[in-house]
Amino acid sequence: MSRRLRDPGVPLDVARVREDFPLLARQVHDKPLIYFDSANTAQKPRAVIDAVDRFYRDSNANVARAVHQLGEEATAAYEDARDRLAKFLNAPSRDEIVLTSGTTQAINLVAYSWALPRLGPGDSILVTTMEHHANIVPWQLVCERTGAQLKVAPIDEAGELIVEKFIEALTPDVKLAAVAHVSNVLGTINPVATLARHARKRSIPLLVDGSQAAPHIPVDLRALGCDFYAMTGHKLFGPTGTGALWARGAILADMPPFFGGGEMIREVRFEKTTFADPPQRFEAGTPNIAGFAGLTAAIDYVEALGRERILAYEHELRDYMLDALATVRGLRLIGEAKERVGVFSFLIHGAHAHDLATLLDHEGIAVRSGHHCAHPLLQFYRVPATLRASLAFYNTREEVDRFIDALARVRRLLG
Ligand SMILES: Cc1ncc(COP(=O)(O)O)c(C=O)c1O
Repeated sequence: MSRRLRDPGVPLDVARVREDFPLLARQVHDKPLIYFDSANTAQKPRAVIDAVDRFYRDSNANVARAVHQLGEEATAAYEDARDRLAKFLNAPSRDEIVLTSGTTQAINLVAYSWALPRLGPGDSILVTTMEHHANIVPWQLVCERTGAQLKVAPIDEAGELIVEKFIEALTPDVKLAAVAHVSNVLGTINPVATLARHARKRSIPLLVDGSQAAPHIPVDLRALGCDFYAMTGHKLFGPTGTGALWARGAILADMPPFFGGGEMIREVRFEKTTFADPPQRFEAGTPNIAGFAGLTAAIDYVEALGRERILAYEHELRDYMLDALATVRGLRLIGEAKERVGVFSFLIHGAHAHDLATLLDHEGIAVRSGHHCAHPLLQFYRVPATLRASLAFYNTREEVDRFIDALARVRRLLG
């Protein structure tokens, strides 16, 4: 569930927004670029690029180590990102935000620090059919080492989680449930608040993979009611190698360190080392300070545009794309959930997804083809690969039109 939305007010001025993204002005194969791969990684506004550049030009130093001016500026830049993320996600406390390199590290932190010491034979971890490998493989590794089992809650053909089945699967052996907030293949938005309510009734912690949600829908951790929330900065228009894990304070307090090294200790003695409190306990070593300066700028940028305004624009563009895709002969859309974002996976009869993506690239159109790090989901649909077009607020109806025209052209080339 999302924070109650305000009236979006003045619509998004997309032409103006596009000017903020230098890369969108480039040509690819002598054609104006159409970037429809934002679910993979999003483009960065100038404000983010400048923030990273400014950090290295003006403030570069390490965090939490030096008392000199630059050290203080670097620490402030890094800690600012924690404040901004806490506010952006409506987290109860900034100390519940662990800065990570992305969702993958965030989920692995929970796997190794929280799940590994707790699970044993007879226990289970519940996931869903639509998870990204980052929300499957860490749990499988934990299961291998503990003797626990992975259970899978099913989806239907439309790509919606079958909520009753998920609830039924919350049996006493389940020690953790882990679900995507938004599917990176189907675009489906899962009813996380409902899932969290049922998990909570049974005292089962719920981890939410928010990688694809944070860039599109307002995320309100207090309203969602989950226990862990993992997100990634580079899909949120920030630099690569940035992200966060949010977890309830009481849970974090009970988690041992995962990585050991500098910054995460209280005192080191050869006989015994004591550890810092969360979140520093989980942030060993020198972090991606410049990246987090960029992530702060990304969050500021998104908030300045207005999340309600972005959402309103993206809904309109999503519906426009859905209507446009419906006109393409032989197109099979994979995933038709009612609640969804502008991520579209599809197949075209008689054409392989990789061939289509290669030919579209020659038209200046960047889409992704393949399994999208979701093998089990593609197995469910019995397809080896799909073409995925994923939109962001900097895309336009004109780009959708050009994309549909190009699709017809490249398809004719493939016979
Ligand atoms: C749903 C989902 N989960 C997890 C990830 C992994 O994110 P990262 O590679 O930034 O750690 C992705 C990235 O594609 C994703 O889409």
